[in-house]
Amino acid sequence: MSAPAGALQQRRNMAAADPEHYWRERGQVLDWIEPYTVVKDTSFDADDFHIRWFADGKLNVSANCLDRHLATRGDQVAIIWEGDEPGETERVTYRDLHARVCKFANVLKSEGVAKGDRVTLYLPMIVEAAVAMLACARIGAVHSVVFGGFSPDSLAGRIEDCGSTFVITADEGCRGGKRIPLKANVDAALEKCSGVARVVVVRRTGGAVTMTPGRDIWYDAAMAEASPDCPPEPMDAEDPLFILYTSGSTGKPKGVVHTSGGYLVWTAVTFREVFDYRDGDLFWCTADVGWVTGHSYVVYGPLANGATTVMFDGVPNYPDHSRLWETIDRLGVTIFYTAPTAIRALMREGDAWVARSSRASLRLLGSVGEPINPEAWRWYHEVVGDKRCPIVDTWWQTETGGIMIAPSPHITQPKPGSATKPLPGVQPELVDAEGIVLDGATEGNLVIADSWPGQMRTVWGDHERFFQTYFSTYPGKYFTGDGARRDDDGDYWITGRVDDVINVSGHRMGTAEVESALVGHPRVAEAAVVGMPHDVKGQGIYAYVTLNADDSGDDATREELRAWVRREIGPIATPDALQFAPALPKTRSGKIMRRILRKIAEGDTGNLGDISTLADPSVVELLVRERIG
Ligand code: PRX
Repeated sequence: MSAPAGALQQRRNMAAADPEHYWRERGQVLDWIEPYTVVKDTSFDADDFHIRWFADGKLNVSANCLDRHLATRGDQVAIIWEGDEPGETERVTYRDLHARVCKFANVLKSEGVAKGDRVTLYLPMIVEAAVAMLACARIGAVHSVVFGGFSPDSLAGRIEDCGSTFVITADEGCRGGKRIPLKANVDAALEKCSGVARVVVVRRTGGAVTMTPGRDIWYDAAMAEASPDCPPEPMDAEDPLFILYTSGSTGKPKGVVHTSGGYLVWTAVTFREVFDYRDGDLFWCTADVGWVTGHSYVVYGPLANGATTVMFDGVPNYPDHSRLWETIDRLGVTIFYTAPTAIRALMREGDAWVARSSRASLRLLGSVGEPINPEAWRWYHEVVGDKRCPIVDTWWQTETGGIMIAPSPHITQPKPGSATKPLPGVQPELVDAEGIVLDGATEGNLVIADSWPGQMRTVWGDHERFFQTYFSTYPGKYFTGDGARRDDDGDYWITGRVDDVINVSGHRMGTAEVESALVGHPRVAEAAVVGMPHDVKGQGIYAYVTLNADDSGDDATREELRAWVRREIGPIATPDALQFAPALPKTRSGKIMRRILRKIAEGDTGNLGDISTLADPSVVELLVRERIG
């Protein structure tokens, strides 16, 4: 084991032996307005369920990401923005960013936003997204970022669920040379929900939009009048910092709530630890701020560390397949963090697109969002990283706030496809279906046995759902929803979701959400949705649809239904395969047998298992015969 890896193991041991002491020290990575005296105050048990970290400390997240860097790195670039068109860039120093955040915080205040109010952001990947997040943090408002690819309906649902009174958007977004009508989507969303008093509109493209008098204001006009002086609001460590909606196996998306203190400690520590960030590095995480990866490793983790972070408003294949590599060269990126789906998509296009660039600046590569298959891992390592750059395959979730399981950045003996070992302070276990803890090399359901600071604290507005979803399956433990294998070295290999969540291109989609969109169509009587293997996306969406009696679908119907889901939820929810099913395989009690539907979608039709408990076994034969793919 190399020396740094040995040091990491030592920290793991220390954290396990005395978490209180370990985290008391690690909490010092932040500046506290009032120091904490208590550190860990948590219990996963039903009769005493609570999770609190650093609870009597006070801090401000934006002051930790900005003010404290001004004396030493005010002129250092905090954010390099790279637009949809190559070379369309902006460099924002810590001093500039601080001034912009203070001004926008004053805009929010003058418009009546107060501590604890919810503010919805529906923005492209522009600097103003980070400004708005940090401005909320500065005054203690709770931001809820909604990915710009979600539909007006999805946006409305998220605005309504958290009772947001304020929306920040842009005229339009740009993605791969196409315009996305963000403001028009907000207008449509606000017709479906009430309570929003103000919409602030950032001018991104200059495209025409309709401004509703008395409700909508322009960002630049408001900023022109605002003072750059805004003292940070002292917040309790446990005060919410943000809400981020994510899909689960049942019901509508959950508002995952993260706190000010624990979340920022976790993202600050994991950023430095996993990416081995050093002064002078240029860090590029390609995620959108609409997802947790963008929150934790485009904005909060890097800025809390005084790092320089890249915000990318484009896509990997525009204007051509060398975009990422060309950008790495042009900007001098040293640490690059992306998702396997992007790697697979680019791998398919051939090595020549990569070979055009030097990538000489790179020293570390990261992967996140889904299992990385060994073939993609090797291509990333050999072709992109020229066999020089270690790869950190990071496993974590929206709920965990930051990275939980990842290799040391100093790996000497890589294991393609394994996220390897937990970070210090993380206690993964594998359990069987009954919750019995499995030892040694084995496979099971992945749980985390004890709390860590970056853990989500509740589901917005539904604390009971929080407990039920994560702590009731295996009492006393946090259930991740993932399966995993542990090898002889104690390294973890995540095998994927064991619940009804599909991981499409590293993004979570609940099968229930897609089903509910499908049955919302007047011609659909019933629908069942499962995941299927997909070469590029990792998993694709396979939908079985039963149309109303006497309605037989054709290709046009199929397209109509795919477009419908796209419109209802957003492009990421579009079914990849849609099969008409005169009936669905159900037990005699009427429960859909998803196991069978999954197997058919996977093409594993030779081994469907026991179908004798079905009400009508002949249904299966028909579905197999008409399988798509
Ligand atoms: O199934 C796991 C998968 O992504 C899920 C979490 O999705 P989300 O909350 O959207 O967050 C994605 C970004 C952190 C997990 O339950 N996942 C994430 N990272 C990995 C992974 N699966 C395998 N390997 C990973 N490195």
